Amino acid sequence: MKKKIFSGAQPTGRLHIGNYIGALKNWAQLQYDYDCVFGIVDYHAISVPFSPSEMKQRVLDCAIGFLASGIDPEKSIIMLQSLVPQHTELTWILNSVSPVQDLMRVPTFKEKSAQHKGNINMGLLDYPVLMAADIIIYKADFVPVGDDQVPHIELTREIAREFNKRYGYTFPEPKEILGPRILGLDGQAKMSKTLGNCIYLDETPDEIWKKLAPALTDTRRKRRNDPGEPKDCNIYNCYLKRFCDKEEIRYIEEGCRKASIGCLECKKILFKKIVKELTPVREKILELRQNENYVMDIIYKGSKKARIIAEKTLTEVKEKIGFDYKL
Ligand code: TRP
Repeated sequence: MKKKIFSGAQPTGRLHIGNYIGALKNWAQLQYDYDCVFGIVDYHAISVPFSPSEMKQRVLDCAIGFLASGIDPEKSIIMLQSLVPQHTELTWILNSVSPVQDLMRVPTFKEKSAQHKGNINMGLLDYPVLMAADIIIYKADFVPVGDDQVPHIELTREIAREFNKRYGYTFPEPKEILGPRILGLDGQAKMSKTLGNCIYLDETPDEIWKKLAPALTDTRRKRRNDPGEPKDCNIYNCYLKRFCDKEEIRYIEEGCRKASIGCLECKKILFKKIVKELTPVREKILELRQNENYVMDIIYKGSKKARIIAEKTLTEVKEKIGFDYKL
């Protein structure tokens, strides 16, 4: 039997290369060795202000990004959280074993409370419990995530452990599979739509070059002939290592340290590789945008499959807590 994986992404709209190299590309690899469920977690997305009229398009864009990055709906389940109400029902049960003082210490709760001072809602605090439900309802063994999500996975283990302790062994304690941390082109923060430091997966080569050319590199290289240190360069750390092969990387490391190549030359090599890898992804996105019914159909079919697994776990959980009814 294959081990199980769950991971999820909030429907933030069009996806960027941070989503792609940080998560989706790895997910697409993992689906060969694991039974995977990939969720579009729309209920998580409403814990901050949002526009209802845009939500469905955001969900579609997210699913299109999944598919274009190589997630195969024949191999993996692509599901929409709000179409599998067992997640939210399990959340309520898990709430009763979740320590509030730990939830209040979660870094994302503190950050988002500071960002949305006028809207510190219960959903923001309960966010990690819903996330725990997403994961353990499939009895997942592993969760591929970025480092910012690790506190959530720790809490998930804590919640699973507490449930098992009180009601008998039910859930494995899931472990994270850490993806690379991809900073934006400014090198200051994680690539994110709200910060505007992104390259989007549907951008043309011209658009990509316009953003890549001025992107931050090692600040020691003020002039073309100043030597640099690749390890202090955001372009090297976050992008070159992901898109270039070993030989190109070695050539660039040496060239940068000796100042035999400039930052722009280095970026040109990277640009070619990015365009080569992302062109098929972009083409697939454009194609899927013309076929939204087909994409919606994948979401519906995946969510139906997910419901069957989720319902089985929920029934087991309810029996364990003495809610043993047949309607
Ligand atoms: N919190 C995650 C993020 O913002 C999204 C998410 C929700 C998730 N549920 C999950 C990730 C379960 C992994 C597993 O990226």
